[in-house]
Amino acid sequence: MVRGIVPDMKTRKLSFIGAGNMTRSLVGGLIADGCDPSLIRLSDPEADRIQDLAHRLGVQILQDNRAVIEDADLVVLAVKPQVLPAVAREIADRVQDRQPLVISIAAGIRTRDLARWLGADIAIVRAMPNTPALVQSGATGLFANTHVRDEQRDLAETILRAVGLTLWVEQEEQLDLVTALSGSGPAYFFLVMEALQEAATKLGLPAETARLLALQTAFGASRMALESDEDAATLRQRVTSPGGTTEQALRVLEDGGLRSLMEQALSAAARRSRELADQFGAQ
Ligand SMILES: NC(=O)c1ccc[n+]([C@@H]2O[C@H](COP(=O)([O-])OP(=O)(O)OC[C@H]3O[C@@H](n4cnc5c(N)ncnc54)[C@H](OP(=O)(O)O)[C@@H]3O)[C@@H](O)[C@H]2O)c1
Repeated sequence: MVRGIVPDMKTRKLSFIGAGNMTRSLVGGLIADGCDPSLIRLSDPEADRIQDLAHRLGVQILQDNRAVIEDADLVVLAVKPQVLPAVAREIADRVQDRQPLVISIAAGIRTRDLARWLGADIAIVRAMPNTPALVQSGATGLFANTHVRDEQRDLAETILRAVGLTLWVEQEEQLDLVTALSGSGPAYFFLVMEALQEAATKLGLPAETARLLALQTAFGASRMALESDEDAATLRQRVTSPGGTTEQALRVLEDGGLRSLMEQALSAAARRSRELADQFGAQ
């Protein structure tokens, strides 16, 4: 993963609306990457509650969404999707005057709906991060609308790279698949870890031993796959000796329809993502 801020970033004023988990991770990552905290401002209804944190990070926190974006070059919308229509309408005239790049990380809000609430042809990047972003190991899909310039793409990428890997998609509908794969994906891997742990415990290992072996194996396999030039299928074949133990286990998983189940699972998640976007967009 390439880290570090683009040079342009050093003078850009960044505002975050909603100072919850994701904003704190993003801001922490940006400062660790060398971003000047005095250029960062946050707004949140609970500003008083997190004054200490803001002070520690060296960023400013306000209670007023309109004030926080006054001279911003980049505005990150990091409130829950249900709250976003009201927040967007509240800041619309300021955004139209200032024309900052708007990055929305709200799950399931389409750029055309956000543009409608903001009331003009605004440069919008929609980002779909996932929960491991909270431990700086996220995977984020990004989509830019037609108003986003190249240097704004770089800025958006820098912001999200502060919490992990970033990848662009060219069509917004592909973000429904990103949601199904990496957005919901951590839960699939948690389920696999849980199932492995349960099975090993049932078959005779102490629960804590089973838990740690399952977790470390998931971590090790993922790290190997990320660091290797070879694809997952090749790595799998490498650890599968003919007539060995792994071959036996993989046969059970293949015969049980694991691949088809994964396809069905992703289809169901992507369908739900589209439904939720329709619902939010109707507001
Ligand atoms: N966490 C993830 O892993 C993840 C992954 C993908 C996408 N996302 C998206 O990222 C966004 C933020 O998620 P999060 O986990 O950071 O949520 P969060 O911790 O609940 O943070 C949202 C913050 O916004 C504040 N807020 C509520 N109403 C507001 C308003 N009108 N103006 C300004 N701030 C307001 C909330 O304050 P109160 O608590 O007082 O309401 C809270 O501090 C969501 O849209 C979510 O869909 C998150």
